[in-house]
Amino acid sequence: MAGSESRYQAFLEGLARENLRRELVDVEAVDARTIRVGGRDYVNLASNDYLALRFHKALMERAAEWAKRYGTGSGASRLVTGNLDLFAGIEAKVARLKSKPSALVMASGFQTNAAVLAALFDRTVLGAEPLVFADRLNHASMHFGCKAAGIREIRYRHGDAAHLGELLGQHQGDRSPRFILTESVFSMDGDVAPLEEIARLARAHEACLIVDDAHATGILGEGGSGLSDGADIVIGTFSKALGSFGAYVASSATTRNYLINRCSGLIYSTALPPPVLGAMDAALDLVPGMDADRAYVAKLAARFRAGAQALGYDTGASATQIVPLICGAPESALDLGERLRKSGFWATPIRPPTVPKGTARVRLAFTRAHTESDVDLLLEAIADTANPAPAQPRARAHPA
Ligand SMILES: Cc1ncc(COP(=O)(O)O)c(C=O)c1O
Repeated sequence: MAGSESRYQAFLEGLARENLRRELVDVEAVDARTIRVGGRDYVNLASNDYLALRFHKALMERAAEWAKRYGTGSGASRLVTGNLDLFAGIEAKVARLKSKPSALVMASGFQTNAAVLAALFDRTVLGAEPLVFADRLNHASMHFGCKAAGIREIRYRHGDAAHLGELLGQHQGDRSPRFILTESVFSMDGDVAPLEEIARLARAHEACLIVDDAHATGILGEGGSGLSDGADIVIGTFSKALGSFGAYVASSATTRNYLINRCSGLIYSTALPPPVLGAMDAALDLVPGMDADRAYVAKLAARFRAGAQALGYDTGASATQIVPLICGAPESALDLGERLRKSGFWATPIRPPTVPKGTARVRLAFTRAHTESDVDLLLEAIADTANPAPAQPRARAHPA
């Protein structure tokens, strides 16, 4: 065995000792509500397909139609010959949804954050290392993009606009370009950033506000437009409420042109394939008209949150379709996940380093495919006294 292999093995064993080892579990997607694991059907509470669009006929048909008409691959990067004319229509629809002058479609959300942030924070172009003020609980891909840019993030306490204001104030005299970086809805907590206050601070301090709207696009905001109204640059993905894959940046035309010339993840990566573009296009047609579905999902989540809180569970600051049951220790989250599985619900325990130490949780996501009876049975499952007691309420989801 090469020396590196024994190190990897020791690393894995260390994770297992701390109940932090991850495994890939084979699942079969039966429909938007149900997954089959090991021959048993479960209600899927771990999917980000909030509008149940990944099994929507319109998306599946347009994906199949575009595969038949345009092939299964795009053949090259968008800058070589992969810039199929299909992109222009999709980008126009994204720009309209986000009320921005232009949009640029990229590959995955992770790749977009990794590559776009690295380009936007490029000190050789900006003339100085930028000051990047970032929520400390931003998604891993955003931290990765900052790392790739070689900049040091100035992290503010989660969702704490006052702390952000303080940090901006401390750098008042520094003339370096400044950016503020936040998610709109936080993926593991389901809480919403104080975006109005953050946008006001951005204007007052002449900072460019970048919002990752991954978990709001399609499911929140007017016509499913998300929650990024005050942002200068919006990043988002098609992999959650929009039901397929791929990502976008909505911005000024200048930013878009700059990214086409400087963003490695766009320049050196093959363009998305036609079937994926077909699903994206169909989702963008459907989303503005899905107000009733958005209201339904919000109602389901509120019903569950109220019930879980009444049972003594800590749901953190969740205010959206994402509801965590914060347990604390990794083994408590694993136990709760196991209990839910026994009752026919599939929900993934989320442990550090995905969430801060001491805040391991089971993250539940409600979608248009769930029913009120699913919610009630789920509450019964977590209340079942034959099982271990529910996690004790915690004072705060995120110790500062
Ligand atoms: C806030 C946020 N940004 C980006 C991503 C990555 O998106 P994708 O799954 O399309 O790579 C995720 C999803 O995990 C996310 O939660």
